Amino acid sequence: MPIEPVAKVSDKVIRKIVFPAAGMGTRFLPATKATPKEMLTVVDRPLIQYGVEEALASGMDDIIMVTGRGKRAIEDHFDISAELEANLHAAGKDELYREVSRVARMASVAYVRQKVAMGLGHAVLCAAPWVGDECFGVSLADELMISDVPVMQQLREKHEESGFSVVALARVPEEDVSKYGIVDVDQEQGGLFRLHGMVEKPEAKNAPSNMAMIGRYIFTPRLFDFLKEGEIGVGGELQLTDAMNTLAKVEPVYGLLVNAERFDAGNPLGFLIANATLGLKNKKYGDLLKAALEKLL
Ligand code: G1P
Repeated sequence: MPIEPVAKVSDKVIRKIVFPAAGMGTRFLPATKATPKEMLTVVDRPLIQYGVEEALASGMDDIIMVTGRGKRAIEDHFDISAELEANLHAAGKDELYREVSRVARMASVAYVRQKVAMGLGHAVLCAAPWVGDECFGVSLADELMISDVPVMQQLREKHEESGFSVVALARVPEEDVSKYGIVDVDQEQGGLFRLHGMVEKPEAKNAPSNMAMIGRYIFTPRLFDFLKEGEIGVGGELQLTDAMNTLAKVEPVYGLLVNAERFDAGNPLGFLIANATLGLKNKKYGDLLKAALEKLL
């Protein structure tokens, strides 16, 4: 297929971002049997709120959440609870009242239902009618990123320079390679790697590099063409990685090693590390947690 240049998008600000949140959270059962993994709490707020706040801080305020059965709590979290707000206000709990009202009004969120569990690629494809013919972000909320410049903003800046898809990368230890989508990279240029391809969860000995995709992406809408045509891949699912691999063959797809403290909080160990790290840094709880941990160690 010939390479057709996509319209330079730097004059068109990206505002749309898709949060695939329909996954079953199997890595975290039984906690995620009746609670969406996106609602697991790190310190004082659910994972999905960190993701949404990162998107908003990156100027992406048109949010499309792809949910499924058992995910109602996510909708309720970003909805106005008039009764709760009235009660907090009447009880003079001003700080809590302000926080609860802020979260309920922070974003305009559209909810799309993924009716069948067919994988991440299929979840992103479910958002296609709402995204239309625009470049857009994708964020996986179980990957928690803490950084001065929000990770989606780091991607957006590179996307605006290049006009093409940009994916967040991190180097991972060999034993973790088989947990991620791994990229095949060219020489770094201006902080960006041109990606020749990517493979979902390879065995370490077959992996093209040790650089993993870590759940933050900006895509050109052409990705949808390859998701629509896509075949079922690893694990019987429509893989986002496979569609990206095809996209990378017809137009540039770049990777950026992002600056962030990253937690893979969708599994119990990563989640515990996230809670300990952010708990220790927390203004309100940090010193108390430190004292409690010192007693244990
Ligand atoms: C998904 C993606 C994978 C990516 C990972 C990041 O995998 O399929 O390419 O590296 O997220 O966390 P999952 O963790 O949903 O199995």
